[in-house]
Amino acid sequence: MSFRTIEWLDDKVIMIDQTRLPAEEVYNSYGDFQSVAEAIKGMVIRGAPAIGVAAAMGVALGAQAIIADTHESFFRQLDNVCDVLGRTRPTAVNLFWGLERMKGVAESHRGESLAIIRAALKQEAIRIERDDQTICRNIGKWGATLIPDGATVLTHCNAGGLATAGYGTALGVIRAAHEGGKKIQVFADETRPWLQGARLTAWELMKEGIPTTLISDNMAGFFMNRGEITCCVVGADRIAANGDTANKIGTYSVAVLAKENNIPFYVAAPVSTLDLTLADGGQIPIEERPSHEVTHIKGVSIGPVGVRVRNPSFDVTPARYITAIITENGIVTGDFRSGLRKVAGS
Ligand code: MRU
Repeated sequence: MSFRTIEWLDDKVIMIDQTRLPAEEVYNSYGDFQSVAEAIKGMVIRGAPAIGVAAAMGVALGAQAIIADTHESFFRQLDNVCDVLGRTRPTAVNLFWGLERMKGVAESHRGESLAIIRAALKQEAIRIERDDQTICRNIGKWGATLIPDGATVLTHCNAGGLATAGYGTALGVIRAAHEGGKKIQVFADETRPWLQGARLTAWELMKEGIPTTLISDNMAGFFMNRGEITCCVVGADRIAANGDTANKIGTYSVAVLAKENNIPFYVAAPVSTLDLTLADGGQIPIEERPSHEVTHIKGVSIGPVGVRVRNPSFDVTPARYITAIITENGIVTGDFRSGLRKVAGS
């Protein structure tokens, strides 16, 4: 891939600034956990798996900076670091998965020196980033088997290299099919209000020479109805035990349109996006973001001053609209409840 989403370099966290793409390819450097938390909140880095990696690296940065005379004081401060990072974005469960994994590592070294605990946290954050790349390639391998040669694939938001440590989940499936020699093309929903599809997905795919057509969100049904879409592949922010899936706002509409038009609708996500503690999607917390994201585009107002706004960032697609869930450990169809438990190894 010709860009890095996030990496640990010389005890700093480097992230490509996704608020500035596609106009500018700028890399920011972060030296403390507070600024990593701000970067997650401000969408410098976004996408569920990438947020998980950023949170883990934030914990590692936080741990390096803690001044403590005792283990008790160190662990109290580490909890605070995790709390601050945990308050950034509520929907993507990968954030909390990353924090829990880091806490587990710290806990498993409790009997050792603080220097060893700090080193273990740094190694774990780097491992989470590397593992995510392998996981996405495996999602891609499984998912590519579902994409026919000559397919036109519709995707929503950005579930690509930018939303992960690299390669992507939904775009990983597309990349793997393309690398496997299938002649495919992609329809990218622009994804209002934040335009992840227009600004990020189209940018990523065009860089790799994958034929891409950008459409506004309200055009998806038109193309489905005319028989121009073969299948839909999207990512996920949290998948409940019954398969109900939270993903970027507008995903639900795409899934309903796909069912109406007999088009397969696939969700591609790592096992770290499963939240099997939730029976169904009704319990998934949905982030609501600031109103200016709806009323303004690039600082220009597109609505009357003072208009009331709602801005839910995600919606939940009921499992009945999902043809299959593609994970790094296999494809789940049919009875999601038992299938998801199996791929999660629980
Ligand atoms: O608000 P965002 O940009 O973080 O939302 C991202 C999405 O909804 C993605 O589709 C999801 O995180 C999957 S990323 C592999």
